[in-house]
Amino acid sequence: MGGAGDIAAIAARAPVIPVLTIETPETAVPLARALVKGGLPVLEITLRTQVALEALRTIVAEVPDAIVGAGTVLNPAQLDLVQRAGARFAVSPGCTESLARAARSSGLPFLPGVQTVSEAMALAELGFDVLKFFPADAAGGLTWIKAIGAPLADLRFCPTGGITAETAPAYLALANVACVGGSWVAPRVAVATGDWQSVERLAATASKLKRR
Ligand code: 3PG
Repeated sequence: MGGAGDIAAIAARAPVIPVLTIETPETAVPLARALVKGGLPVLEITLRTQVALEALRTIVAEVPDAIVGAGTVLNPAQLDLVQRAGARFAVSPGCTESLARAARSSGLPFLPGVQTVSEAMALAELGFDVLKFFPADAAGGLTWIKAIGAPLADLRFCPTGGITAETAPAYLALANVACVGGSWVAPRVAVATGDWQSVERLAATASKLKRR
């Protein structure tokens, strides 16, 4: 179990966590439904738009099969906000000590981001053993994850950032990868045009990816 609730159990629910930046509140529920129907129940709603919190609340209320978390949570105040909005977990692109401690005392499952071995070690000391590796593609990708497998043997990662349908399988084949995150399952054009069938199809393919 991670230091702030059981993020490992959430990561175990699906090989891919869709990372969703919702621009229009009306798209939130059909988007979430298409992803869940395709087999991806764990959803990360990034706090990058004005409507993100509203979208999160609506999905929590109307898509009970979704496990809805908040992404781009940068500080303790945002963590508190998303917890009160009904988020079941929180994700951060990096981490600070105050955010890690707030997450731990909140009890909300938390996936903090790292890019270096030292950052991973600092979070491990605070009790976090499942970490987001971000931005995965830009920061070393598969090579990084493979290289830290032996020295950081107790840690597992959720690589996110630049991962595609084509590159996801190689990440998921690694023993220290718990799941991957990415936006490719919810392409901007499909969301803008309400093409939920395409989203469901992409989710269905992603949900069948094999993990070690
Ligand atoms: C992000 O923070 O935007 C996520 O890491 C998703 O990245 P992606 O759009 O490259 O999948």
